[in-house]
Amino acid sequence: MPTTRTPVGIVGAGPAGLMLGHLLHLSGIDSVIVENRSEEHVVERVRAGVLEQGTVDLMHDVGLDERLRREGMRHEGIHLRFAGTRHRIDMSGFTGGRAITIYGQNEVVKDLIAARRTTGRPLYFESSEVSVLDLETSSPRMRFVHDGDEHEIACSFIAGCDGFHGVCRQSIPTSHLTAYEREYPFAWLGILADAAPASDELVYSMSERGFALFSMRTPTVTRLYLQCAPDEEIDAWSDDRIWSELLARLSTLDGWQPNVGPIMQKAVTPMRSFVAEPMRYGRLFLAGDAAHIVPPTGAKGLNLAMADVKRLSNAIAAFFATGSEVELDRYSACGLKRTWRAQRFSWWMTSMLHQQEGNNPFDYRRQLAELEYLVSSTAAMTSLSENYVGTPFD
Ligand code: APR
Ligand code: PHB
Repeated sequence: MPTTRTPVGIVGAGPAGLMLGHLLHLSGIDSVIVENRSEEHVVERVRAGVLEQGTVDLMHDVGLDERLRREGMRHEGIHLRFAGTRHRIDMSGFTGGRAITIYGQNEVVKDLIAARRTTGRPLYFESSEVSVLDLETSSPRMRFVHDGDEHEIACSFIAGCDGFHGVCRQSIPTSHLTAYEREYPFAWLGILADAAPASDELVYSMSERGFALFSMRTPTVTRLYLQCAPDEEIDAWSDDRIWSELLARLSTLDGWQPNVGPIMQKAVTPMRSFVAEPMRYGRLFLAGDAAHIVPPTGAKGLNLAMADVKRLSNAIAAFFATGSEVELDRYSACGLKRTWRAQRFSWWMTSMLHQQEGNNPFDYRRQLAELEYLVSSTAAMTSLSENYVGTPFD
């Protein structure tokens, strides 16, 4: 098997791997991206859709925000709904004008794949038997099979951008990695509905029947979620049952409710918090879901991944420009600081808004009191807002 060389081997063509490849390209650094699924699967996969200001700024800085500016929906606030009432939090007002933008993760991925194709740099979908080796040497290698051909690529660095179930984190000796984890005793059933969004901004709802979230993708597509059991059988949820539960959890006393329409897609997402420490082993650097998972309540997953790869590309570019390893050495500690801040926030949003087995009427009253305090305190709303819109990327 002939061995070829590339400066950076990237495992995974999700948002983390693709953005890293593009950032490196802009610094004149070549890379090879290896993905085990098909391009269609990667693009069609329905995921979250909230971009922090930092992610929007990054898409702008790398010249990929043409469609995002046109189709993305900028939101300056969110609503919290409890006890039959919606309360708006003016996030921009509390953060000096920062905002979030609704733009599906799969749209981000489409834009990044198109940019990669334009560069002509390698991107191998449907690769099998992907493995990484010699990670503790200065020439780690990436192996895979593509179109029946075996490839071995010697790299200066390998970026593990292959998600939670990927091969990179699993290639680190367990003695060099500590995992911190919490699984939640519930999941989200998410749907895409062919219905115009009934609100201009997201609605997070805490109700005795469980959590629900109103979101959107386009001016004609509503995205909705409802809390369900972690092992929920999707077939147990007819469209009628989904709508009646969503309406019960989201409607308000003043008559607001989501618009109902044909359900185009439905799926159950488990909820987990996970952090791997450190985010580096030798010349292997973990980024995105490969290193950390947050429950979706704070909408942080994609944004953490983007912050990781921006830092990683800067560190790699500095190494090739000057030989300095200072930024590479700081990569993990800086990333973990941001990750734990997002973990704390996502856990807090999740526990404030969901119902857990074993909760009793005391807990429900306590949750109501927390939400009442939140929407009446400038300090508390500022805290939520600055975490939700996200701190600037370093
Ligand atoms: N070899 C090659 N590719 C792999 C392998 C493997 N052994 N295992 C997984 N992959 C691919 C997956 O198919 C996927 O396309 O790695 C990619 C990882 O992408 P994501 O799971 O989207 O993760 P990431 O790029 O870190 O994106 C951030 O945060 O909260 C989430 O929804 C958010 O998916 C987003 C993520
Ligand atoms: C989404 O639109 O998919 C979405 C929005 C907010 C969240 C999670 C997901 O907290």
